[in-house]
Amino acid sequence: MTQHTHDRLLIIDFGSQVTQLIARRLRELSVYCEIHPYQRVTDAFLKDFAPKAIIFSGGPDSVTREGSPRPPQSAYALGVPILGICYGQQVMMQDLGGLVEAGKSHTAEFGRAYVTPAAARLSILEGWFEGEKGREQVWMSHGDHVSKLAPGFEVYGTSSGAPFAITADLSRNFYAVQFHPEVHHTPRGAKLYENFVRLAGFTGDWTMGAYREDAIDKIRAQVGDKKVICGLSGGVDSSVAAVLIHEAIGDQLTCVFVDHGLLRLNEAQEVVKMFRDTYNIPLIHADESDLFLGALEGVSDPEVKRKTIGKLFIDVFQKYANEIDGAEFLAQGTLYPDVIESVSFSGGPSVTIKSHHNVGGLPEKMGLKLVEPLRELFKDEVRSLGRELGLPDQFIGRHPFPGPGLAIRCPGEITRDKLEILRKADAVYIDQIRKHGLYDEIWQAFAAILPMRTVGVMGDGRTYDYALALRAVTSVDGMTADYYPFTHEFLGETATRIINEVQGVNRVFYDCTSKPPGTIELE
Ligand code: XMP
Repeated sequence: MTQHTHDRLLIIDFGSQVTQLIARRLRELSVYCEIHPYQRVTDAFLKDFAPKAIIFSGGPDSVTREGSPRPPQSAYALGVPILGICYGQQVMMQDLGGLVEAGKSHTAEFGRAYVTPAAARLSILEGWFEGEKGREQVWMSHGDHVSKLAPGFEVYGTSSGAPFAITADLSRNFYAVQFHPEVHHTPRGAKLYENFVRLAGFTGDWTMGAYREDAIDKIRAQVGDKKVICGLSGGVDSSVAAVLIHEAIGDQLTCVFVDHGLLRLNEAQEVVKMFRDTYNIPLIHADESDLFLGALEGVSDPEVKRKTIGKLFIDVFQKYANEIDGAEFLAQGTLYPDVIESVSFSGGPSVTIKSHHNVGGLPEKMGLKLVEPLRELFKDEVRSLGRELGLPDQFIGRHPFPGPGLAIRCPGEITRDKLEILRKADAVYIDQIRKHGLYDEIWQAFAAILPMRTVGVMGDGRTYDYALALRAVTSVDGMTADYYPFTHEFLGETATRIINEVQGVNRVFYDCTSKPPGTIELE
């Protein structure tokens, strides 16, 4: 059996859209948890995972359908607390001898609902029902409902469409709720999770300090005395991975920073300075800007740009990697959301909006084994780990920057002149945002140079220069976004500064498109 250093909570995923949020809520409580699809959770898996508690997620199926998803029955015999949510509640009830009825219009509930307590109080609901009206807002999303409780269960809360909204079998520490405590619209949901994990005996031992020590031991055990190469993009994920691995194995690590000539102002120098000078990490600075910009000459189709950059990046990385004698491992900054195997019920391929390129997409055929020390972390946890490792705040909090760089912020043909103008204008814009104390409120802000010139008048003369678009959005994950509501004063001041300080621009637009229908980048 595998030895585990932290208390572990297992989330069995039945395909809910919001399963990841359960993990987020638990990680915020310093509880280590993993999400696994129900098909993977066998008796042997459970034994090896050795959870201290289990959560059954929601899901889109109906337990009344034959062949619908189930947890292994051995889960109920482990003697650990279990919390069932929505579909997870219904599956628990049916497995243990209760009844679930398929949706009827009067019992289906979607959206905001209110739960009122039954006579007895439940420890996992400590802190609930304390408001004026003695009821609690929750988020419901169910068609089916439990119509008869399993033996041993009692009701602790009801809503208009769910007479068994909160139930529990206290002798076995099984809890089942019809609503989703993990979503924002169940305002006291986090408290319910907190009470549940305390009751299960979690001590909150999942800290970044502990993670750092563990990760270093694991890297040393995996790599031994072999060499590792790491593709650096200058972004937070690959940088944190590199610094962590360097702390574990020192000079056995070499980083390769591919400079495609599409970086922001002074970016290449800053990355090289930080890694070589501050951390003393062996770094190959592959200045291949001529190669990339040459290949992009005359290209204006966004997909051709992306594919050209993606392919060249791999070729170049491979060329430099081959020069490192005896490298057996490739380090990548893969994060947990990239590796969660979600349960897909639709099964269909999704439409390609953009061919994404990033350092993490290096090909399997390189024949190197992977070192992925951030695989268990969410983005904000990577940032905390970066702080723990002493990376400067200014660096950790940087806005995301796409793999294809400025190429996709320069619609139409890319020229060195346009890139030069864009770099300067972007730097002024970001400086403005920082000076106004807005940088950390914004998910991502950047300038784009438009494929058009417009007429202007400066001094007494006519100008015919480029127009620039400024973009700034708020977002939680980059999947959806709102444009940032700058004040008119800010926009006016910024436009004036850009036009005064950057030769070649005589007009500035602000992009007020949200995502959807727009995307964050222009291409
Ligand atoms: P879009 O433009 O698709 O961008 O709304 C969503 C987020 O992804 C970033 N982005 C990329 N990141 N490689 C990356 O590593 C890419 O090819 C790429 N394209 C877009 C974008 O900056 C935003 O944060």
